[in-house]
Amino acid sequence: MIIVIDGPAGSGKSSTAKEIANRLEIQYLDSGAIYRALTYLWIAADKPEKNSFLKLLPGVKLQTAYKNQMFFVELNGADITHAIRNQNVAEQVSDVASVPEIRKFVNDYMRNLVLDDIYIADGRDLGTAVFPNAALKIYMDASLEERARRRYMELQEDDGSAGVTLEDVKQNLSERDQKDQNRSADPLKKADDAIIINTTGKTFEEQISEIIDIIQNKLKLKR
Ligand code: CDP
Repeated sequence: MIIVIDGPAGSGKSSTAKEIANRLEIQYLDSGAIYRALTYLWIAADKPEKNSFLKLLPGVKLQTAYKNQMFFVELNGADITHAIRNQNVAEQVSDVASVPEIRKFVNDYMRNLVLDDIYIADGRDLGTAVFPNAALKIYMDASLEERARRRYMELQEDDGSAGVTLEDVKQNLSERDQKDQNRSADPLKKADDAIIINTTGKTFEEQISEIIDIIQNKLKLKR
């Protein structure tokens, strides 16, 4: 079974989905991290042309796991959990994610992963394209200013922030929103049956309890 949260960059999807996974003792899947991992691979391979890059995909060994509040990503045996969060990857990821063959690779990986447990996953197109039959669909949003502020603070706590200003982060979010909403392959879009949660001005605890209430009412989850 799967619960999905879609929405634009920095709307709070990942932190919310992780916290919900912890409280309900279910699994968490970060779809963006997988696009970031393939972007990392593309950069590490010296940014090859699309067709040469696609030839690498069948040989890719990807492993993901959620533990201790972290979504771990291993690519061909190397732990790239932290490396995929840097600004260099953030600047390229929406272009890599716009390639239909790459989306198919990621979607196949995710659909296979969620077969044998209860998951909450966050992304852009999960409710529309990847899991149209999800048990519950949430669409999270917040103003660009608030999303940029949150992401900037997050980057400062992490190590991917060298020389990056609040204005850089805001610009990156806004460019990614544009690309994610306007690409032809599975754009960022609210599913017709998704419940909208706007988190502007809400505390983290408020948004968590709002969503947990919705989940409990709709799914009566018991583990
Ligand atoms: O956490 P943040 O909102 O910054 O982004 P992310 O979830 O790590 O996703 C990074 C990028 O991957 C997005 O900007 C999209 O271009 C792409 N993505 C996508 O195309 N489809 C998804 N289901 C998830 C992410």
